[in-house]
Amino acid sequence: MATQQEEKSKESWKRFDAALADYQRYCQSCHGKGGRGDGSVAKWLKVPPPDLTLVSERYDGVFPAERMARVVDGREEVQEHGRREMPIWGEVLADPDEPDEEALGARIAGLVEVLRWLDEKSAPPAG
Ligand code: HEC
Repeated sequence: MATQQEEKSKESWKRFDAALADYQRYCQSCHGKGGRGDGSVAKWLKVPPPDLTLVSERYDGVFPAERMARVVDGREEVQEHGRREMPIWGEVLADPDEPDEEALGARIAGLVEVLRWLDEKSAPPAG
């Protein structure tokens, strides 16, 4: 029988897998498979997609999880900065029939975990 610990880690892998599928579907075209900003449509953008492997480096060496969640969500950011190239994921990923902030928040949190994984400095050491 699987221990509680094993069940928990299975659950979190499932969540990570779903988030990775979201990344591949929604983010990769601009940010690239490995997050380096070399996706297939990147060259058509006015603002090049930032390299997501260097996020911590840009933010004083610490991966800013909360800030990344806000940037990805985008609904607040827009008011701060006006137009941006990246879609407002807080709107795109919301279910238009049944808006559910909690489900949306979980989905964005999953994407932030993918970002953490792509980030060079916060990746867990190999092995
Ligand atoms: C249409 C191209 C495009 C797509 C698709 C896209 N992005 Fe972006 N992203 C950008 C651009 C361009 C920027 C730079 C800011 C701006 O102009 O919007 C950016 C900025 C970011 C940043 C800020 C990085 C930093 O260092 O501050 C994060 C995080 C991010 N994107 C994550 C994502 C995630 C997660 C997805 C998928 C849900 C995604 N992006 C999909 C183009 C895109």
